[in-house]
Amino acid sequence: MVSSADTRWDGLIVGASLATLDADAGYGAIEDGALGWRDGMLSYVGPRAALPDSPAALAEQVVDADGGWITPGLVDCHTHLVFAGDRAGEFEQRLQGASYEQIARAGGGIVSTVRATRAADEQQLLAQSLPRAQALLADGVTTLEIKSGYGLDYDNERKMLRVARRIGEALGVGVRATFLGAHALPPEFAGDPDGYIDRVCEWLPRLHGEGLVDAVDAFCERIGFDAVQTRRVFETARTLGLPVKLHADQLSDGQGAALVAEFGGLSADHVEHTSLDGVRAMAEHGTAAVLLPGAFHVLRETKLPPLDEFRAQHVPMAVATDCNPGTSPLQSLRLAMSLACTHFKLTPEEALRGATVHGARALGLSDRGALRVGARADFVHWAVSRPAELCYWLGGGLARSVYAGGRKLV
Ligand code: NIG
Ligand code: FE
Repeated sequence: MVSSADTRWDGLIVGASLATLDADAGYGAIEDGALGWRDGMLSYVGPRAALPDSPAALAEQVVDADGGWITPGLVDCHTHLVFAGDRAGEFEQRLQGASYEQIARAGGGIVSTVRATRAADEQQLLAQSLPRAQALLADGVTTLEIKSGYGLDYDNERKMLRVARRIGEALGVGVRATFLGAHALPPEFAGDPDGYIDRVCEWLPRLHGEGLVDAVDAFCERIGFDAVQTRRVFETARTLGLPVKLHADQLSDGQGAALVAEFGGLSADHVEHTSLDGVRAMAEHGTAAVLLPGAFHVLRETKLPPLDEFRAQHVPMAVATDCNPGTSPLQSLRLAMSLACTHFKLTPEEALRGATVHGARALGLSDRGALRVGARADFVHWAVSRPAELCYWLGGGLARSVYAGGRKLV
């Protein structure tokens, strides 16, 4: 019996089915479920019929969900949503036949967003970026990763990371900030990528010292940085005890997946061109694959990631928005899940697992991503009659309520 005042829960929601995702396979479905929480953590996950007392005796506040499904809060483990301006002009250029690489080599692409981001002050950057995080939250995201990488000098990378932290504080969602200084070569270092990497390796300990960095990423690609340069950034991260992840094998097979796996990295992201050796290295070192179907869709890519190999080798597949102004101006993780089903033939269950359990794993977070007692009370109540609808509907306001750390945010 749980009824004395000091053991009462802060909240209890009853009357919805639960998709707990708390097992290696399946939705972990509980029909007519109940979810209790206390001090920001889940205190009960199970059938309503198995509650130890009447709801009113158990919790301060009882919500009757009146149907629908409750899932873990979604985890968007790869975004670049802090930036200024937009690149709708490049979207039009690509529709006329220009490629992403051609635009980048002609001085557009990432570097054009760098110009706009440098020109914005911290408050302006926050004002432009916050609505994108709000859009993700409205569609069920309770934890998101945000990368730097449009500053490309110390002050502007710092400004981006500070804005990332401020978004978490302003919205009450979990934010993991990733330093992506090695995203592109800024114009002032033209012809001297090694000199730029020297700077990146100097900035990282300073930014980390300010508590602004949770992980380190790089863009290992023909139009980014090579494996030797990436390795130098990763070695600096390692001396600081920071986890690494990598934009790997997006446009070509640069052996990026194997490189980040060698460093015990959290994830290799994009991975369309990853070879079987890369998949094996990821499996061996426990590195997750982060699938980014938004960029695949926008760039009209045709090369699929090695999905069957990931499955065969039990490499966890996360799904994320990659929200960025160039390749993926996508502000709904649910839509990314849908694109993962349509383009990559993930099952809706794999897509949901990718945006919860495996998304959390790709951020190194073990306290969220599934509904289980002791996990953070991050959950979403959806107006759907079966979980596959989360991937089936393109758009639409399906989230009835969104809770993070037991606080109702939507
Ligand atoms: O994940 N590939 C590098 N970074 C981003 C694109 C950033 C941009 O074009 O602004 C990506 O696709
Ligand atoms: Fe990205």
